[in-house]
Amino acid sequence: MLVVIDHFLDINEVAAYQRALEGATWQDGLASAGGLNVRAKRNEQTDPETEVVRELANGLLRKMGHHPLFVSACLPHKIFPPVFNRYGVGQEYDVHVDAAIMQGPAPGDVMRSDVSMTVFLSELEEYDGGELVIEGQFGAQEVRLNAGDAVLYPSGSLHRVNAVTRGERLAAITWVQSMVAEVEARSLLFEMDQAIQALTNSRSSPEQLVRLASVYHNLMRRMASV
Ligand code: NI
Repeated sequence: MLVVIDHFLDINEVAAYQRALEGATWQDGLASAGGLNVRAKRNEQTDPETEVVRELANGLLRKMGHHPLFVSACLPHKIFPPVFNRYGVGQEYDVHVDAAIMQGPAPGDVMRSDVSMTVFLSELEEYDGGELVIEGQFGAQEVRLNAGDAVLYPSGSLHRVNAVTRGERLAAITWVQSMVAEVEARSLLFEMDQAIQALTNSRSSPEQLVRLASVYHNLMRRMASV
C-alpha cells in the first residue's frame, strides 16, 4: 500500500523548514546506518541532538497526529522522531529494507517499523534524480513529489533513493509503528475508512452509515493492538 499525501506541508511551512535546515548541523548519514545498509547509504543527516532539529521534528509529529489521511492510513501507535536528510550530486541510498526494530532517543523507547514516510522538502526543479523507488507487489514505483508532499509505504518493502545528478534533495523521513501490524489488514481498514468518510460527506443513508462505522470499529477491535 502506497499512499501519497498532497500538501502535507503548505508552502510557508516548507519555506520555514528549508530555512531552518540550512543552519542545522549535518553529519554523515552512516552514523545511523546498521548492518548491510552501511554499504548502501550515501547522504547526510541532521544531528538529532540539537534543539533546532528537535523542534522541527516535533512540528512534523504534531502535524501527523492531526492529519486525517495520515491517521487513517497508518493507524499510528508510535512514531519515530523525524530525521532530516539531504542528498547532493552523486549521493544515493542503494536498495535496502528499513530496520524492523528501532531504538528511539529515550532509553527503553523501542518500536517496530510498519510504515515508512518521506516528506519531500525540495522543489522538483531544484534537483534531478533522487527518485524514491519502492518495490511492491506490482513492480517498482518511482516517487518524486512536490515540496510539501509526502508518501507512506510499507517499511518491509525494498526501496532505494536514486543518485542525485543535479542540485540537492532535501527530505524528512520517519517510521510508524501501527496498531495494525499486518499490511494487508491495515490496507483493508484504510479502504473502508475512506469509503465511510466519503459517504459521511455525502450525507446519505445515515442509518446504514452507522452500521458500516460499527463494522469498521469492530474489525479494528479484532485487529488492533495498543
Ligand atoms: Ni529506507
